[in-house]
Amino acid sequence: MPAMLEVKALRHRFGTGPGAHTAVEDLSFTVEAGELACLVGHSGCGKSTLLRCVAGLTRPTGGTIRLHGTEVDGVPPELAVVFQDYGRSLFPWLTVAGNVEFPLRSAGLDRRERASRARQALDWVGLADAHRRFPWQLSGGMQQRVAIARALASRPALLLMDEPFASVDAQTRFELEDLLRRVRREQDTTILLVTHDIDESVYLGDRVLVLSSSPASIVADLTVDLPAERDQITTRESAEFVALRGEVARLLRHRAVVGEAS
Ligand SMILES: Nc1ncnc2c1ncn2[C@@H]1O[C@H](COP(=O)(O)OP(=O)(O)O)[C@@H](O)[C@H]1O
Ligand SMILES: [Mg+2]
Repeated sequence: MPAMLEVKALRHRFGTGPGAHTAVEDLSFTVEAGELACLVGHSGCGKSTLLRCVAGLTRPTGGTIRLHGTEVDGVPPELAVVFQDYGRSLFPWLTVAGNVEFPLRSAGLDRRERASRARQALDWVGLADAHRRFPWQLSGGMQQRVAIARALASRPALLLMDEPFASVDAQTRFELEDLLRRVRREQDTTILLVTHDIDESVYLGDRVLVLSSSPASIVADLTVDLPAERDQITTRESAEFVALRGEVARLLRHRAVVGEAS
């Protein structure tokens, strides 16, 4: 059976001629159904470019992306994306429920089905009571939970997340990380998440794919051998966690030094 997601020899270059910039180079990996895979890399290394290519929002200049064996050409309907900037991703004139239902219209679901899916998705993220409120009445962390509910409501085969917790305070980030791991377990969602935060990649992931500095390619594919049940305090203190974050940090530092020298 083909992998859920297969990225092969991906390359993306912005512009042409002397001003051209290669953001992604010879990048390959696969994600299997049910996995939560984290891609970690320095700011500016090409993470968003890579994710936009996978989402079909940017057409790569080379390589192939296959979802269930079918080449991605345009935005695949079985895919949902959560961006870092929740403030701009929600419509201020729609209620929380309206925002979550919005993408379901184009999926051709009738009004009742849309409302029931939205209620269920808001329940998953602990916002069942906030459905009538407007985004601007909510905290940043709650707004990002709405964005996650909106992505989950379409029941995507693959959920892509681009630094989804980078704009919230540390305590809220911990809550959202635990929420993501719980929802993912309960709904059996496949997730590909990019972050610049080493600790976050290890805490969240079943796998951590380490990216080189610009242009991005994969330098290591590490299995996270931590228990499925994780805890923000005890997991982060465990010897396995500390060893793994050290390994990722060393890989990133080494790559940054090599990148500067070349
Ligand atoms: N539309 C664009 N045109 C030209 N260069 C771009 C564009 N988008 C991103 N870049 C460049 O590509 C590199 C990777 O950017 P990006 O994928 O946003 O990195 P990251 O998400 O890892 O911070 C950066 O050097 C950035 O300046
Ligand atoms: Mg980015």
